[in-house]
Amino acid sequence: MAVRFQNYINGKWVDAKSGKRFRNINPANTDDIVGTFPDSQAEDVDAAVKAARKAYDKWRLMPAPRRGEIVARAGELLIRDKEKIAKLMTREMGKVLQETRGDIQEGIDTAVLAGAEGRRLFGQTSPSELSDKFCISMRMPIGVCGMITPWNFPIAIPTWKIFPALVCGNTVVFKPASDTPAAASKLVEIFCEAGIPKGVVNLVNGTGRNVGTPLVNHPDVNVISFTGSSAVGRAIASACGKSLKRVSLELGGKNAQIVMADANVDLAVEGVLWGAFGTTGQRCTATSRLILHEDIKDAVMDKLLKRAKRIRIGNGLDESKQMGPLINEDQRRIVHDYVQIGQKEGAQLLIGGKPYRRGECKKGFFYEPTIFDGVKPGMRIAQEEIFGPVLSVLTVKSFEQALKVHNGVAYGLSSSIYTQDVNLASRAIRDLEAGITYINGPTIGAEVNLPFGGVKDTGNGHRESGTAVYDMFSEWKSIYIDFSGKLQKAQIDT
Ligand code: UN1
Repeated sequence: MAVRFQNYINGKWVDAKSGKRFRNINPANTDDIVGTFPDSQAEDVDAAVKAARKAYDKWRLMPAPRRGEIVARAGELLIRDKEKIAKLMTREMGKVLQETRGDIQEGIDTAVLAGAEGRRLFGQTSPSELSDKFCISMRMPIGVCGMITPWNFPIAIPTWKIFPALVCGNTVVFKPASDTPAAASKLVEIFCEAGIPKGVVNLVNGTGRNVGTPLVNHPDVNVISFTGSSAVGRAIASACGKSLKRVSLELGGKNAQIVMADANVDLAVEGVLWGAFGTTGQRCTATSRLILHEDIKDAVMDKLLKRAKRIRIGNGLDESKQMGPLINEDQRRIVHDYVQIGQKEGAQLLIGGKPYRRGECKKGFFYEPTIFDGVKPGMRIAQEEIFGPVLSVLTVKSFEQALKVHNGVAYGLSSSIYTQDVNLASRAIRDLEAGITYINGPTIGAEVNLPFGGVKDTGNGHRESGTAVYDMFSEWKSIYIDFSGKLQKAQIDT
């Protein structure tokens, strides 16, 4: 019998008020039902927001170092349960075990950083223009945060949002992707065990339409943090714009790896294999374009094709496999549609281009690693996010042309260049339009200490991770303390 999961509202595990449920299946084997989950509606969101609002009054007054200790404890529990959650996550989401372990590790690292931030949350002091007066700034919590998270990093991305928000003194309503609700449930169980007071973290399962939309529109929600598609991001931004709600958007990418003529070929090939086919291409940071200098093209392509053909596809719980399935049938259809579009546009399909159905894999949403050559910068497969194991190869004659091709897309999340030339690398750092630039490394694998996010249509200027995320979840307050005993007037000439 499928496990029955619940929502978590005001310190209690509960069903949706309507009693409705939805099923979640294993994308590697559709016979395997991971569990059933509450198919929640606006009324459940409302109960969660009420609980979060009520809990806020006390939580914001708990000293930040104490809040940080609860987050740090959650990190320790993630260490304890890492293997168990990794296995569940692979079963629920499909990516291979090595990667689900990495996903949880990213959450653990975030807990360490956020837990310690409870003892910092530094503000500024500044000299006053006037005598006998102090000027100080402090971070203040904002209120209730609605966290809407994707399925590709079911633990890491929720922790990027929830841990810093809690440390800042906010309370949370968490709406995880309906493809990965079991991992979300484990994270909330961990919060309970770590001692989070009731109402501070609430979990509401369901669809974007039934849960996400009422959360975004709820008047008592002060902040929305969303990771997902640009189309949904735009709709959320306009809803939040109407009510002046603070909103952070982490959206799509069309990331490229540039390989210059002087690059180390083996290193560049390793990089693109990992960047394009790791997580079955389902990262916002995935390498979707390979921009090759013509002088090195044959050497790179020769090795790349040989290696890509040998990628072992299968159930991620089998540790000999390197690439799991796509998340669901819709995603496989989208990927396959892009392959048709690429061929119609005149790109050359070198390998892959179809669902992978060998043996046990016929029961899942597997897809072959796919590489297109002869891709032109204006083609849709060179412009649009695909979110699957599809790599478009573009050939350039110079560094300047590589930059132009790289920057000629709507997105700007991650970027990479392989070169031994320190001057070219430095120019790339300056001129690639992206929130992240790797030198001699693939486009994936950002670390939690630095800001994560992108430029252009990848977001709305906010960053997650590092210390930058604290700007999202706190308001600055400036404090002036006048101990002169008289009225002092700033900016008034005397
Ligand atoms: C994402 O793709 O949505 O940089 C997040 C990386 C990971 C996070 C990816 N640390 O690839």
